[in-house]
Amino acid sequence: MSQRVVLIPGDGIGPSICDAVVRIVEAAGADLQWETHHAGARLAETGADPLPPTLLDAIRSCRVALKGPLTTPVGKGYSSLNVRLRKQLDLYANLRPARSLPGVPSRYQEVDLIVVRENTEGLYSGIEHEVVPGVVESLKIMTRHACLRIARFAFEHARRHARRRVTAVHKANIMKLADGLFLDCFREVAGEYPAISADDCIVDAAAMKLVLDPHGFDVVVMENLYGDILSDLCAGLVGGLGVTAGANLGPECAVFEAVHGSAPDIAGRNLANPTALLQAGVMLLDHLGQGAVAARVHQALARTLVEGVRTRDLGGSASTTEFTEAVVARLEA
Ligand code: NAI
Repeated sequence: MSQRVVLIPGDGIGPSICDAVVRIVEAAGADLQWETHHAGARLAETGADPLPPTLLDAIRSCRVALKGPLTTPVGKGYSSLNVRLRKQLDLYANLRPARSLPGVPSRYQEVDLIVVRENTEGLYSGIEHEVVPGVVESLKIMTRHACLRIARFAFEHARRHARRRVTAVHKANIMKLADGLFLDCFREVAGEYPAISADDCIVDAAAMKLVLDPHGFDVVVMENLYGDILSDLCAGLVGGLGVTAGANLGPECAVFEAVHGSAPDIAGRNLANPTALLQAGVMLLDHLGQGAVAARVHQALARTLVEGVRTRDLGGSASTTEFTEAVVARLEA
């Protein structure tokens, strides 16, 4: 029986890149049954919950989803749907590979590093209040439970994928309690994996070292905010937001997505690059044990890019649909 997968088209460029990914993945012969559920700004405009409980139930039932980007109003309005989704489904680990793709112009070649970001707490706890007018407090919540499980996730990922080193990124010199706890938990878990080297790096130094020599890192694990920032930095090392994907993983469910947002500046213009969401689709297929189809899609994507078919963000002139059909044509070749 086909694997059921929830498809969330999302906002802005989301629907068009979702169409592209479904088209390519189906042409590659994936054994999936898509169940489309809507979330995001359009629902909010009608006064409905932009993250409806029926959507969450559908993901709990299928256990896997492919999600287009969701818009978050800045400084006002509803809270981030991505953060709500991660918290409500306990998608505690955000796995963001930064790998060079052949044919994508970028500053470095042959980068292959994995960012593991804690997805549920830290400064994303959303606990903020005004103490007195003109003074606000935003709380950074760190728990031993979450620090241990994200460290264990990073080492388990390293073990299963034959990675040799895990680096904890932190600011324990300043946040001695919060990041100190993160580092203590990391070291505790590292002791269970003697075959994998473990070290740590202060976040500002890590940012500099990643830019100077991304080949010097293997798996990096960090709390929520550092992971948000450094994973975008790592996307920049391999060609930008248009080509990098992420998986949000928990004990029950997995939600795959592009790292980029809803790109309102190009929405509805057939200009969006579907590569990042397609890479998310490749991760999803691997996750579901359809590795051969995943490899077929990845090879067709790489051939398309190497042969110079690129969307505007990568310096090319192909539209979303032209790029999509070019990938499909290389599947069939
Ligand atoms: P963005 O990632 O949407 O766009 C930044 C720039 O990159 C824009 O110039 C855009 O045109 C370009 N871009 C992004 N994806 C592209 C693609 N696939 N092809 C070609 N060009 C692409 O970031 P921005 O503008 O800061 O955020 C827009 C909205 O998206 C915000 O509401 C934000 O909260 C939301 N967002 C959602 C995410 C998610 O659902 N996971 C992640 C990041 C942002």
